[in-house]
Amino acid sequence: MHIERDVSLKPFNTLALEARASALVAVRNDDELAQALAWARGQDMPVVPLGQGSNVVLAGDIEALVVIQQERGISIVDEDDSSVRLRVCAGENWHQLVCWALAQGYHGLENLALIPGTVGAAPIQNIGAYGVELDRFVVAVHALTIAEGEPVTLARAACEFAYRDSIFKHQLKDILVITAVDFRLSKQPVADTSYPALANYLSEHALEQTPQAIFDAVVALRSSRLPDPATTPNAGSFFKNPIIAYERSAYLGTRFPGIPRYPQADGRAKLAAAWMIDHCGWKGVSRAGVGVHPAHALVLVNQGSDSGAVLLALAGDIQKSVAETFGYVLEIEPRVYGAD
Ligand code: FAD
Ligand code: EPU
Repeated sequence: MHIERDVSLKPFNTLALEARASALVAVRNDDELAQALAWARGQDMPVVPLGQGSNVVLAGDIEALVVIQQERGISIVDEDDSSVRLRVCAGENWHQLVCWALAQGYHGLENLALIPGTVGAAPIQNIGAYGVELDRFVVAVHALTIAEGEPVTLARAACEFAYRDSIFKHQLKDILVITAVDFRLSKQPVADTSYPALANYLSEHALEQTPQAIFDAVVALRSSRLPDPATTPNAGSFFKNPIIAYERSAYLGTRFPGIPRYPQADGRAKLAAAWMIDHCGWKGVSRAGVGVHPAHALVLVNQGSDSGAVLLALAGDIQKSVAETFGYVLEIEPRVYGAD
């Protein structure tokens, strides 16, 4: 374990924004993590865990020890004829886990293919795509407390998962570093094709609803819509889709014909932030080295700026114009660090 002082975080965030960390360390197991946490306590320094930096906006320097979670390993906790419980270390790459599980015949994760990032970060915002959210598979989340370096385990119910949300964004924000996640996956093929774009893709390509076909369809759909951070720095969706009272969504439906509205289990309705931003004319707009992706209005891209502040200024103008048009302030989805 090697703790470096005053480190550029540009290689550690997929928006490729420039910001410095007071200190940075990569940890490969629980002992190294515990040592790093003890070091930070000794320096009276806060700790910021990072995986692959695909859901952060660095708007200024981070006065903290940045801990890059690189703990690797997948093990079977228990299994029977119908399912398997896996323990997956936090530093495993999410998409590689999805590919590995599919190859083993452990099913359910196929709809979540190609989401960037680590397993340890996945519970933070309860990653979701194509009609499926992570919490469907989580059995438990294992972590060390930042303040004491003590191991804790949270059962799924304690994680308070919701759309792009969990307890790790609220009561347990900045309290834990996740070290592993337990998942229960099915040994029988699972096919959730409730997401219309996914169902359409399968029928247009005359594909059966097999796990492999769903995986392939999700990879194709995502590749056609979302920019690859390796060539076009971005953090995926920059805003959450608003979930609002059904009556209000019905009113918006009469004022803005065609606005997508998805009924939710709790009776409310989810709106498509991408459609709202697109409707306001932002798609493809570029300024000061940042912009709105021409293929997807929900994705803000860094086109050569180093500055998170410039990106947030663009985000602020988008929020203002969407609020003026639709009466709703879009909520930023990635975690913002270093802003005043
Ligand atoms: P980071 O960005 O490194 O961290 C994100 C947050 O989690 C930070 O606050 C960090 O402190 C915290 N964190 C990270 N690791 C730990 C840990 N071990 N313990 C405690 N806290 C931790 N998300 C979706 O839900 N669905 C999508 O379809 C989707 N598509 C995307 C497409 C693109 C092109 C990109 C760039 C992003 C997309 N995302 C999507 C967002 C992103 O992939 C997820 O949020 C992912 O889980 C982030 O993983 P990470 O390792 O990069 O986390
Ligand atoms: N749309 C537009 N203009 C655009 C893009 C999309 O009008 O430029 C419309 C589409 O036609 C569609 C609607 O907006 O009617 C929704 O678009 P899409 O299916 O692409 O999904 P999304 O709501 O924009 C969400 C997630 C994505 C996830 C996809 C697939 C959020 C904030 N985003 O996007 O997650 O991959 O669904 O399930 O929930 C992420 O979190 O980073 C992310 C990429």
